[in-house]
Amino acid sequence: MSLKNIPFFEYPKLWSDDRENLLSIIDNVSLTGGFILQKAVSDFETELANYSGANYSVGVGNATDGMEILLEAIGINLGDEIIISSHTMLATASAIKVCGGSPIPVDIGDDNLIDPKAVEDAITSKTVGIMPTQLNGRTCDMYAILEIAKKHGLFIVEDAAQALGSRYKGQHAGTFGLASAISFFPAKVLGCLGDAGSILVNDDDLYHNIYQIHDHGRDVDGEVKRWGRNSRLDNIQAAILSYKLQSYHNVIDRRREVAQMYQDRLSQLEELILPPAPGIDLDNYDVYQNYELQAENRDELKTYLGENNIGTLIQWGGMAVHQFKQLGFNQTLPKTEQFFKGCIMLPMNVFISNDDIDYICEKVNSFYRGNGKKTF
Ligand SMILES: Cc1ncc(COP(=O)(O)O)c(C=O)c1O
Repeated sequence: MSLKNIPFFEYPKLWSDDRENLLSIIDNVSLTGGFILQKAVSDFETELANYSGANYSVGVGNATDGMEILLEAIGINLGDEIIISSHTMLATASAIKVCGGSPIPVDIGDDNLIDPKAVEDAITSKTVGIMPTQLNGRTCDMYAILEIAKKHGLFIVEDAAQALGSRYKGQHAGTFGLASAISFFPAKVLGCLGDAGSILVNDDDLYHNIYQIHDHGRDVDGEVKRWGRNSRLDNIQAAILSYKLQSYHNVIDRRREVAQMYQDRLSQLEELILPPAPGIDLDNYDVYQNYELQAENRDELKTYLGENNIGTLIQWGGMAVHQFKQLGFNQTLPKTEQFFKGCIMLPMNVFISNDDIDYICEKVNSFYRGNGKKTF
């Protein structure tokens, strides 16, 4: 096998692999002069809503802004508690915090997503909502979460930043609660050439509130209705996202194929706990934003793969939300802490070839089968 170099994600390829088409999209939008809140944005908003089955989508600057805006639109009071998974980006928690709320991280379950039992245990008289993160392109057990929310009179909003196209019992991530935020950060399954995001929402009134907040308090007709801010998806990114959404199903298919190849080549290693293979759980349709697994001797494996020119990443820099003690968290969450001792992500994107996957898996196997370990 020839010497390989497989970065975790090759950002320049987002441009170089499709330069001519992207140039012509940028040219077309720029020639119209419609850079802000013009047709390309409203077209993409309609397409995204249709794709996911939501009544509305609102393009925003990024998913973090999206979460802040939707929480502001719902309206939370100082100290209101919102339960989140501790295995999420700090952005989920910070969005709650900047809106005056109190993020309450809880443990993950066997699927590494928020544990419904832990959610129920964390409910207090101050709890107003649950904000599950649909992590790694997988939707959590939303029927269980919906039932808990109903029983306790709580709202649900979703951090669906990593999960566009992912489904649970046939329903799209991001459409289970009052609203959700999706990220189009370049490395996302649907990624653009900069920061961008969208909010999905069903309710008419909430949609108008969200719309107003994202554009200086102005409604769709331009009339000022309330205080707002500026967090708009810009037209060039929207046009690129519209173009990419057309072939999005191919991207998901390929990612699922890559996941299956990892499964076939690594599942015999007892030192690893792999994510669920595509199709194994009939309730879940996963889009594999990440291929995150748990590995024995994780740090040595990471070093070994690095020495063999294979890029890997440990999510959130290896810190679950509740482990940021400097931000005031004081929970002990055993499952999450155990998970973070061994978690690592292998390359998962459409730029890697079948040969690359063979090479990665051969190196992982050789690490555990002795050849690799000899180097330590
Ligand atoms: C789970 C999760 N939440 C929130 C975000 C924030 O998204 P953005 O960078 O678009 O603000 C990300 C982005 O990586 C994410 O993965």
